[in-house]
Amino acid sequence: MLLKHFFFLFSVINYLNAFIPARIIDFLIEKADGSLKDQFGEVSHSYTHEEIIRQGVIRSTVKYFSEQKDLAYLKLNLSQIEKYFNLRALYKLIYNRTFCKTDLDEIIFKDLQPSVASVDFDSDTKDMPYAHFDANTFRESNLRVMNMTKKVLESIRSRKFERAREISGKVLHTIQDFYSHSNWIEMGNHDKINKAIGTVAFDKFKFASKSDNITCVANCTIKEIKCNKMISTMISLLKNLRKTNINCPIKYFKCKGNIVTNDRLVTGYYVDQKLPDGTSASKPADSLMCSHGGLLDSDSFRPVQGGINKDTGYYLFSPHAHLHQTAAKLAIKHTEYFFDQIRAEIGDDDFSKFVRIIMQDLIELIQKNLVFY
Ligand SMILES: *[C@@H]1O[C@H](CO)[C@@H](O)[C@H](O)[C@H]1NC(C)=O
Ligand SMILES: *[C@@H]1O[C@H](CO)[C@@H](O)[C@H](O)[C@H]1NC(C)=O
Ligand SMILES: *[C@@H]1O[C@H](CO)[C@@H](O)[C@H](O)[C@H]1NC(C)=O
Ligand SMILES: *[C@@H]1O[C@H](CO)[C@@H](O)[C@H](O)[C@H]1NC(C)=O
Ligand SMILES: *[C@@H]1O[C@H](CO)[C@@H](O)[C@H](O)[C@H]1NC(C)=O
Repeated sequence: MLLKHFFFLFSVINYLNAFIPARIIDFLIEKADGSLKDQFGEVSHSYTHEEIIRQGVIRSTVKYFSEQKDLAYLKLNLSQIEKYFNLRALYKLIYNRTFCKTDLDEIIFKDLQPSVASVDFDSDTKDMPYAHFDANTFRESNLRVMNMTKKVLESIRSRKFERAREISGKVLHTIQDFYSHSNWIEMGNHDKINKAIGTVAFDKFKFASKSDNITCVANCTIKEIKCNKMISTMISLLKNLRKTNINCPIKYFKCKGNIVTNDRLVTGYYVDQKLPDGTSASKPADSLMCSHGGLLDSDSFRPVQGGINKDTGYYLFSPHAHLHQTAAKLAIKHTEYFFDQIRAEIGDDDFSKFVRIIMQDLIELIQKNLVFY
C-alpha cells in the first residue's frame, strides 16, 4: 500500500504538464483504491496522449481502407468507426487471414506512442512552452508544428518512414496539448478542431499577449485532502527528492468561468518553464494571468489562483477536469486530421508505407487467390 501510493506520487511529479502518460493512469491511478479517485476529484475517464494517438491514427487508416476501390465490397461504415479499433479483427476482414499482430499495432506501440509521450520527458521539451502551447506562446508553438510537419513530409520523401513516425508523435503532442491547455473549448468550440494549426492562417487568430495582464479571475473552489500519517511521510520523502510546494493538507482547485478573455486565445503558465534560450517563462508577477494549474503547479497557488488545464479527468491535476472529455475528443479528431493531411500530401502508396499497411497489390493478389498462406 505504502509503496504503491509512494510510487504514484513520485511518478506524477515528472508528468504533470500534459495529458498524463498511459503508464501513470493505467498502472497506478486506475488500480489505486476507489476512495483515492474520489478524494482526487475524478469526474471522468482520463485519456492519455498514447490513447489519443492510437485512436487518431486508426481512424485515419480505416478511412484509407474505406476509400480503396478493391475494398469497397466490405462497406466499412465510418459512422461506426470504433468497431474497427480491434485491428486484428479489421485485418481479418480486409485480408481474409488471421494475424497474430498487425504491423499498424506494432508501429503504434513502437514508434508513435513512445514519441508522443517523450515530449514530457525529454529535457529539451519537458519544460519548454513551445512544445505544449503554454505561456501564451501561440506563434512559436504554431511555428514548431509547421517546422516539424515539414520534417515529417521530408522524411517520408526520403524513405525514412520510422523517423517520420517519430517526428509525427512529437508534433502531435503539441497539437493535442492545444485542446487541453488553451481556452479553445471555453471559447465555444466544443465540436470543432482548429484546422489552422500548422499553417500561417493560425496567426490570424487573436492571442493573449504579455500586455494582456488579466486573463483569469479567481473563480475557483479549493478542495483539501487531509493527510494521514502515510501521506505526510510520502510528502516529506518527495521534498527530499525534488523541490516541491506540496504541503498538508493537499490542496487543489475546481474552476469554472474563471477565464475572462474568451474573445481571444489564452493558455496557462506552468511553473518553472523556460524558453529555448534559458529565460524564464513563468507566470508574470503582479499580473492576473491564467495558470496551467494542478497539484504541482505551485505558481497556481499565487494570484490568480486556480488554473485552466483539461489534461485529465481529475480535478487534482486539472482545474477544468469537467472539459477533459471534450478536449480529448477534439485531440483525437485533430490527430486523425493530421494523418489525413499527410496522406493527401504524399498519396496513398507512400501513406501505406508510412503506417505500414500491407501493400495494395498484395490485397489484389489475395483477392485473386494467387497467394496462399
Ligand atoms: C452506418 O452506421 C450508422 C450509424 O450506426 C447507421 O445509421 C447507418 O445506417 C450505417 N450505414 C450503412 C450503409 O450501413
Ligand atoms: C477467405 O479465405 C477462405 C480460405 O481460407 C476462402 O474459403 C474464402 O472464400 C475467402 N473469403 C473471401 C471473401 O475471399
Ligand atoms: C522554425 O523554423 C524556422 C526556420 O527554420 C526557425 O527560424 C524557427 O526557430 C523554428 N521555430 C520553432 C519554434 O521551431
Ligand atoms: C464564476 O463561475 C460561475 C459558475 O460557476 C459563473 O456563473 C460566474 O459568472 C463566474 N464569475 C465570473 C466573474 O466569471
Ligand atoms: C496591467 O497593466 C497595466 C499597464 O500596463 C497596469 O497599470 C496594471 O496595474 C496592470 N494590472 C495588473 C493586475 O497587473
